Amino acid sequence: MSIEIPPGLTELLQSFTVEVLRNQPRDLLDFALQYFTQLRESASTEAPFGDEQNPAPRPGKAVNFIDEAMQIDSENGEEEEEGEDDDDDEEFMVHSFDLCPAVCAEAFNPDEDEEEKEPCVSHPKSDEQRQRLQEACRDILLFKNLDPEEMSQVLDAMFEKICVHGEHIIDQEDDGDNFYVIERCVVVRADGTEKLVGSYDNRGSFGELALMYNTPRAATVIATSPGALWCLDRLTFRRIIVKNNAKKRRMYESFMETLPLLTSLELSERMKVVDVISSKVFGDAQQIIAQGDSADCFYIVESGQVRIAMKRSRTKGDQEEEEVHIATCSRGQYFGELALVTNRPRAASAYAVGSVKCLVMDVKAFERLLGPCMDIMKRNIANYEEQLVTLFGSRAEIEHQSA
Ligand code: CMP
Ligand code: CMP
Repeated sequence: MSIEIPPGLTELLQSFTVEVLRNQPRDLLDFALQYFTQLRESASTEAPFGDEQNPAPRPGKAVNFIDEAMQIDSENGEEEEEGEDDDDDEEFMVHSFDLCPAVCAEAFNPDEDEEEKEPCVSHPKSDEQRQRLQEACRDILLFKNLDPEEMSQVLDAMFEKICVHGEHIIDQEDDGDNFYVIERCVVVRADGTEKLVGSYDNRGSFGELALMYNTPRAATVIATSPGALWCLDRLTFRRIIVKNNAKKRRMYESFMETLPLLTSLELSERMKVVDVISSKVFGDAQQIIAQGDSADCFYIVESGQVRIAMKRSRTKGDQEEEEVHIATCSRGQYFGELALVTNRPRAASAYAVGSVKCLVMDVKAFERLLGPCMDIMKRNIANYEEQLVTLFGSRAEIEHQSA
């Protein structure tokens, strides 16, 4: 059954709610009667309710029911009249009520401009808060491809949440309300049976999946220490991050199809992979990977060439090592997966030859979307040359390390 919402109803109820919140009447019914009678009287001198040329009168300003006191940025001035005094700003300030509409009602369609029409959300912050926020957001993958204006809108919209030990920040199967960036807090992730399946130690982010794919929360997330999180509301997340990902998908769609690494994935899975990649440019001879370092990501060459080199002793028993060239990777090929598969330090170094652009794949993000990626990556080990066998002693040892 489809229910049509009459034009003006939302504004009418929102305005009424604002008045209730401002006046805190003892008798809600009496107040409602008075409010709507007055409204009716003033409306009869203006216009009837509900047609497009003559929209319903709005005695108060529209208000968004989100978690904390917030300000609506009336960029276009539509809602603001000159000469209004500061008290009127209070109409924009509301606190958390259970009036929040269900958050996951609409289908995922990043091309729809619906969210564009929503006013920008802005939570005022002190310099000190903004500095802490910027620091916490520095390495957040989903923010990496934003342009400076988008990033600044994201930072404006974020608000701080203090959490206590044992607090459920997210419950599995709930609708997605916010995306969370950890400033300081240890949080654990549990599956439906409350089994702990992962943790974040004072850094990182979570809560993006339900917002990106319009699905129920995939896991429960609980704070196991007191701490502070930064939250980005769902609408801003979709308006900026999901839109940005859609752009990225269009950009990389055909390239992803050519990648041998991803041929076993469905198209929809390949597109999800695009959501969790970032791209990085390296100058000629710049080191991309250093042999011996620990690893948390792997790379796909988008343009240019990458030289792989490995240090080895000149002669048996010789302490001195020289770096020998062992492979070259070009567009579409990937490198840096071996350390992840074997859980060992980087087996070789990688250098840019000329200017190189690589897609960087954060393994944890990849696995959140597609499950263990090791099986996909392991296939390539068989293609490595003899040097690899030399490094690990035998192919059996490689298999053992990557089991
Ligand atoms: P979301 O589904 O919105 O809420 C629960 C969050 O837990 C989820 O987003 C991810 O951010 C995070 N998470 C981390 N690892 C996983 C995982 N392997 N499976 C599901 N969720 C995960
Ligand atoms: P990793 O060990 O993470 O970092 C260095 C990368 O060089 C390695 O992953 C492989 O992706 C890549 N590589 C290419 N050829 C070889 C090779 N013959 N032996 C080891 N690593 C190789």
